[in-house]
Amino acid sequence: MCGIVGYIGNNDSKEILLKGLEKLEYRGYDSAGIAVKNEDGVHVFKAKGRIAELRGIVDENVFAEAGIGHTRWATHGVPSKVNSHPHQSESGRFTLVHNGVIENYDLLKREYLADVHFQSETDTEVIVQLVEKFAREGLSTLEAFRKTLKLLHGSYALALLDAEDNETIYVAKNKSPLLVGVGDSFNVVASDAMAMLQVTNQFVELMDKEIVIVTKNEVTIQTLDGVAISRAPFTAELDASDIEKGTYPHYMLKEIDEQPAVLRKIIQAYQNEQGQLEIDADIIDAVKNSDRIYIIAAGTSYHAGLVGKQFIEKVAKVPVEVHISSEFGYNMPLLSEKPLFIFISQSGETADSRAVLVQVKEMGYPALTITNVPGSTLSREADHTLLLYAGPEIAVASTKAYTAQLAVLAILAEVTAKSRGLEVNFDLTHELGLVANAMEVLCDSKEMIEVMAREFLSVTRNAFFIGRGIDFYVGLEGALKLKEISYIQAEGFAGGELKHGTIALIEEGTPVIALATQESVNLSIRGNVKEVVSRGANPCIISMEGLNMDEDSFVIPEVHDLLTPLISVIPLQLLAYYAALHRDCDVDKPRNLAKSVTVE
Ligand code: AGP
Repeated sequence: MCGIVGYIGNNDSKEILLKGLEKLEYRGYDSAGIAVKNEDGVHVFKAKGRIAELRGIVDENVFAEAGIGHTRWATHGVPSKVNSHPHQSESGRFTLVHNGVIENYDLLKREYLADVHFQSETDTEVIVQLVEKFAREGLSTLEAFRKTLKLLHGSYALALLDAEDNETIYVAKNKSPLLVGVGDSFNVVASDAMAMLQVTNQFVELMDKEIVIVTKNEVTIQTLDGVAISRAPFTAELDASDIEKGTYPHYMLKEIDEQPAVLRKIIQAYQNEQGQLEIDADIIDAVKNSDRIYIIAAGTSYHAGLVGKQFIEKVAKVPVEVHISSEFGYNMPLLSEKPLFIFISQSGETADSRAVLVQVKEMGYPALTITNVPGSTLSREADHTLLLYAGPEIAVASTKAYTAQLAVLAILAEVTAKSRGLEVNFDLTHELGLVANAMEVLCDSKEMIEVMAREFLSVTRNAFFIGRGIDFYVGLEGALKLKEISYIQAEGFAGGELKHGTIALIEEGTPVIALATQESVNLSIRGNVKEVVSRGANPCIISMEGLNMDEDSFVIPEVHDLLTPLISVIPLQLLAYYAALHRDCDVDKPRNLAKSVTVE
């Protein structure tokens, strides 16, 4: 996902913009650029590749008190310098950065800009050329910007500079995240607060279809029709140290290690004064009033939803369906009479999930978002929110957010069950405490898991993760972790399903990682291991204490059998981490991926 920053104040903007972009690197990008403005005009510096390359071309001698910056994750137009942002209008008067996708850019180009010579293949350039066209027709910059925005269909977070106006950055937002940060004699713009914690922790949320005039002393918010909006700033709860690696070589390893602390924080956050787990009564009522829950999510969050279904159905006795966001929106099943939609999203900005939220809200259905980012789009637009309290997750590969999602789903299931008068035959608070301890044991097993990564994953081109029941869902997550950071083709499979086709792919030495944490299917999954071993597979059995056997490669501590996914995933996270490390992959920022996919 692209990242946007902007600064206007009394200091030189270059370093503030570059540092801000570096804080957004985790979102994934393939080019970056800044534009700074002073009395000599607008100076644009942009390059394909990392921000380090951009730093190399920025002219240190340019002092400019206003500027905008951008990291681009290519959607329209290949990753290249010419397609990187900022983009300028034909005369060079206007300079723009954009996060999002303009769906009607081609139509606008043909209808309004047929005589304009375009530099790039991007939808963004259409926006800045439109602003210039309308300015040339005599409109003020604000009115030209407003007229342009009214023509756009799609998502955008925009920051615009006008070479003839040294006092202002023009900003607008629709669907893509954007905040304005406020300070003393300066103001900033950012895709998320992390980028500008360096100068302020006071931020104003922007809502869809708002246009904002930012000067160093004032922030003026209007609707597209010019109605003034007043909105108080909020204090970003993040601490600068939360977004530093500290002594860790990678954010991913730090975030894997944070899981025990995150789980303990979640237990604390959802505990009332009597030590009971508690969730907002409106949310519990929403669950109780529904006759079926539809969990909507993408990627790792979808995998968390599959496990969450087990919790809610087995403990709270409410039927649950789990759907991939990008499918559900275009392929909606026959819904029950009283559905409740639960959106799981670490970032709270995933466009595929948000599109479904907009759809179901229009249909009048209730929605709950489970997210790590307070004030995110999916949080703001749902009726209810449950927070993960996991702290910023920087690595593209989601780890602590996944186990946090499982914990919050387990708490939701247990509190709902009790509220429905159902018997819950275990003390979830106690069991989650044991899970946190078990997580620590696993986080201390890195050396052994690194050896396993070398043994099973160092030379292979593919890998299979098999499990039965809840282990199958964790296997899906393990496969996603491995493929997204090591680029090894990995697939998660239901153990019993391999023989229906996929077993044809098993060759001499093919690694098959099998999870065996469920007593009811322990012997069955071990039978599946025998099937693949007889065809040459190299088995890596990860079992739970009490179910383990001599041939197992790794044994995880015993926890409540419903909660095993919170710990069985940790060896898989670490296997993926070390496999990627051994292959010199970019662990935190894998190729082609973004931390939060805000385009559909
Ligand atoms: C997981 O490691 C990936 N980064 C990706 O699948 C991610 O889970 C997915 O894009 C959903 O993101 P969200 O939780 O922020 O909605």
